[in-house]
Amino acid sequence: MQKDNFAHKAAEWDTPSKKGMTDKFVKEMMLQITIHPQWKGLEIGAGTGLVGLQIAPYLKNIVFEDTSEAMLEVLKSKLGKDSPHEILHAEIFEYTKQDIDFVFSCMAFHHLPDIDKALKHINKIITKDAIIVVGDILTEDGSFHRFEPIHHKGFDLSKLMHQFIDAGFEILTAHSYNTLTRERTPGVFTDYEQFILVAKKI
Ligand SMILES: C[S@@+](CC[C@H](N)C(=O)[O-])C[C@H]1O[C@@H](n2cnc3c(N)ncnc32)[C@H](O)[C@@H]1O
Repeated sequence: MQKDNFAHKAAEWDTPSKKGMTDKFVKEMMLQITIHPQWKGLEIGAGTGLVGLQIAPYLKNIVFEDTSEAMLEVLKSKLGKDSPHEILHAEIFEYTKQDIDFVFSCMAFHHLPDIDKALKHINKIITKDAIIVVGDILTEDGSFHRFEPIHHKGFDLSKLMHQFIDAGFEILTAHSYNTLTRERTPGVFTDYEQFILVAKKI
């Protein structure tokens, strides 16, 4: 597995700004889909659970997947003793049961090395008509992560939609829903557009 690039961030991850950003993603996701209480969910790049724990009460259970042990440790500390949820400290390819009804991911896809490979694998582990919701940023100039290692400087939405289609999904919607303004260089404020893509297995 890759190095834990979030080890030094995990303890401080849950800032008001991150909570605000994930709240907006959850709100937009809930506008686009209807969650069913019998669904088994899978969150890719779940981090400290800022997204998944908001929707956990409406699902049967969730597999919280992430490659960062440190982020998952924070998430674990929030789960009760008798939690029905699972934590998967691994790359997505290590999940092979074909029982996932709903996949969601917020700001983690740009960390995945190979999107085509990931989408093809996701398509194999989901049930008929399963829904996938991905939130991330549109193509940016590299300033969003500046000196940190990153696989994708955001996404070209049209290209990403084609990648979903090639992997066996039908696009239900793909649109931008929020602008993040960040001061990555002192005194320089840059806007990063966030998008949501909702697709269904065909
Ligand atoms: C920007 S954080 C987002 C965390 C969380 N989704 C949120 O919105 O608060 C990206 C997350 O993706 C995880 N990640 C990075 N590479 C990954 C990979 N190859 N597979 C799964 N998760 C990965 C990181 O460890 C981190 O927790």
